[in-house]
Amino acid sequence: MKRMIIALALLVIGAATGATAQDAPRRHTYLNPDAPIEERIEDALSRMTLDEKIAIIHAQSKFSAPGVPRLGIAEIWCTDGPHGIRPEVLWDEWEQARWTNDSCIAYPALTCLAATWNRQAADLYGVSIGEEARFRDKDVLLGPGVNIYRTPLCGRNFEYMGEDPYLAAQMVVPYVRGVQRQGVAACVKHYALNNEELHRHTVDVDLSDRALYEIYLPAFKAAVIEGEAWSIMGSYNKYRGTYACHNDRLLNQILKGEWGFDGVVISDWGGTHSTIEAIRNGLDMEFGSWTDGLTEGASNAYDMYYMAQPYKQLIASGEVGTEELDDKVRRVLRLTFRTAMNPYKPYGAMCSEEHSAAARYIAEEGIVLLKNESNNLPISADAKRILIVGENAIKMMTVGGGSSSLKVKYEVSPLDGIRSHYGDRAEVIYARGYVGDVTGDYNGVVTGQDLSESRTAEELIAEAVELAKGADHVIFIGGLNKSEKQDCEGADREDITLSYGQDAVIEALAEATDHLTVVFVSGNAVAMPWIDDVESVVQTWFLGSEAGNALARILAGDVNPSGKLPFTFGVKLEDYPSHAEGMTFPNPDKVYYKEDIFVGYRGFEKSRIKPLFAFGHGLSYTTFEYGDLTLSADEIGADETLHATVTITNSGDRAGKEIVQLYIGDNKSSLPRPIKELKGFEKVELQPGESTSVTFAITKEALSFYDDRVGAWCAEPGKFTLYVGSSSADIRLSKAFRLK
Ligand code: BGC
Repeated sequence: MKRMIIALALLVIGAATGATAQDAPRRHTYLNPDAPIEERIEDALSRMTLDEKIAIIHAQSKFSAPGVPRLGIAEIWCTDGPHGIRPEVLWDEWEQARWTNDSCIAYPALTCLAATWNRQAADLYGVSIGEEARFRDKDVLLGPGVNIYRTPLCGRNFEYMGEDPYLAAQMVVPYVRGVQRQGVAACVKHYALNNEELHRHTVDVDLSDRALYEIYLPAFKAAVIEGEAWSIMGSYNKYRGTYACHNDRLLNQILKGEWGFDGVVISDWGGTHSTIEAIRNGLDMEFGSWTDGLTEGASNAYDMYYMAQPYKQLIASGEVGTEELDDKVRRVLRLTFRTAMNPYKPYGAMCSEEHSAAARYIAEEGIVLLKNESNNLPISADAKRILIVGENAIKMMTVGGGSSSLKVKYEVSPLDGIRSHYGDRAEVIYARGYVGDVTGDYNGVVTGQDLSESRTAEELIAEAVELAKGADHVIFIGGLNKSEKQDCEGADREDITLSYGQDAVIEALAEATDHLTVVFVSGNAVAMPWIDDVESVVQTWFLGSEAGNALARILAGDVNPSGKLPFTFGVKLEDYPSHAEGMTFPNPDKVYYKEDIFVGYRGFEKSRIKPLFAFGHGLSYTTFEYGDLTLSADEIGADETLHATVTITNSGDRAGKEIVQLYIGDNKSSLPRPIKELKGFEKVELQPGESTSVTFAITKEALSFYDDRVGAWCAEPGKFTLYVGSSSADIRLSKAFRLK
């Protein structure tokens, strides 16, 4: 009886407030983290006004979008990416906000990550940077970048994962998943065909569908389908006459249609150019349309964004409906519930010991030993006097380069890393050698380094040569830097040669010593006219906070190098397929990718041009032998899997890691195909004398090409050759098989 009275009383209260017992739980579906996400989205959508819908699809500040304050739907905060968490900028400007608690750990640049060929390292990278993003309360990390290395002149190559679509796809997936496990969305960029910088806002790219599908899209596709990326960034350039940020083919047809992407397409900052195209062609969120938001508009410049008031006016005039808007809003809400309004996300962490350890580990895994004659490296334990020469031994490299520039908690320079590694065991002396770029600030972050130098080039070389004569080992540390026209966003390199007279310094040192190691800090290939005169060459990339420590441990032999090149080093620029006769670079207007699918090693092999260092190349302080390549069958059907097994033995006298690479070539095909293409790899660690077997599973996918005559992937029956080796140019074993 008592219970009945209470129930009746509740009904009466319900009637008085206009709610019913059934309504009550529905009211907050969108706020209930345990309700199915699609129900939450529909619930939230149904409560939003037109103005609120328009508001959440464009920026309210340089890096944020407003959410719906009235409904408690959170703001979305983005951050660069992709090598560390960018310092805070002012609400409307790129200028520093001058916070004192926004210094981060800089992880190695993505070229280094690609050079690890280590999927666990990619996961660790994603987790670590995701934790920092999370701690800084960011919802979207603007990275990773997976544009293909088409030319060594592209200023942003250092931020990407090399020339091979398979390698980039394999490495991007764990990165994305690692970031997103922290409740932070990865924003894979720059989709698509952003292969040059100088004219990135005007260049109009065209290419065959084969090249698009086989070379330029696979890493994005893997990030979306396997990595389940929650957002993607449209690139600045045009594709077939329409800007990539609102390109029907790239966004509606391929990304959302073919790949079923359910996330948010975010414009690159200032990459939106048309309201109607943005509405119809798949852009979901607009950012950065004016550099200094408030100075451009009458009251609130963000209202003038292409997807703000102009959108509302088109709806009001009846020119467009609200169907596209609702789709965009659904996507933004999905992103919000996955990130900002996910109460189960971890708390994150900044600058932890684990993050430093991760940065160092990834750096050590990615450093590539390109040349090592007469066991010049590791530095002999007897060396008592080590000379370091070159600006990059002392220059901070985390500041500069464009949007990936960072304010770091610390950065160990190569010289400091080597000095502290040796301590009292050896005297480490330094000579400047050359003067590169002494500036040390970017976007208001200053390195505080005084790199000024008044001596002439001749005097600097003379000093280095003199010191080299009395040294047991000489290490030249140079390469590129993060200044304009080097490894830097917004401009491209003008040549493949080294700047600042570095070749002359290296040549002079090579004359003066028999123990010369050349170390490159860069994210791009450089020409090495003196290659025969130096004993060792080490490619170290931009390694971030732990740069010097990682390099020291490799040079001293505490860590055995195990990275391999993610792109080809050509002898000269014209050797690159994208710079062959008749190609132009950079391109202010239209460009057609004439080299087609023959990018990187695919092109070098086709033209039989010997590279300086091949794709996949990288030495170790030990040696590996390959044997017993066996196939599970000589012939497979289209739906069968072929297994290829090979035995790898560490035949040297120290522990080391080898990256075993599998390439496949189609012996005869109806369309031209590369001689061989990377289709598998495994990184294995072996003690001296130890052996292990590696098995690759090969399915139809690995045998297919994109047949643009029919617009589909196709594997043609016939003979294929399977190659197993230590690099694309060092094939140790091969075997043929047939596809029925
Ligand atoms: C870059 C993006 C970056 C964005 C935000 C753009 O200029 O191309 O990669 O994420 O700025 O800083």
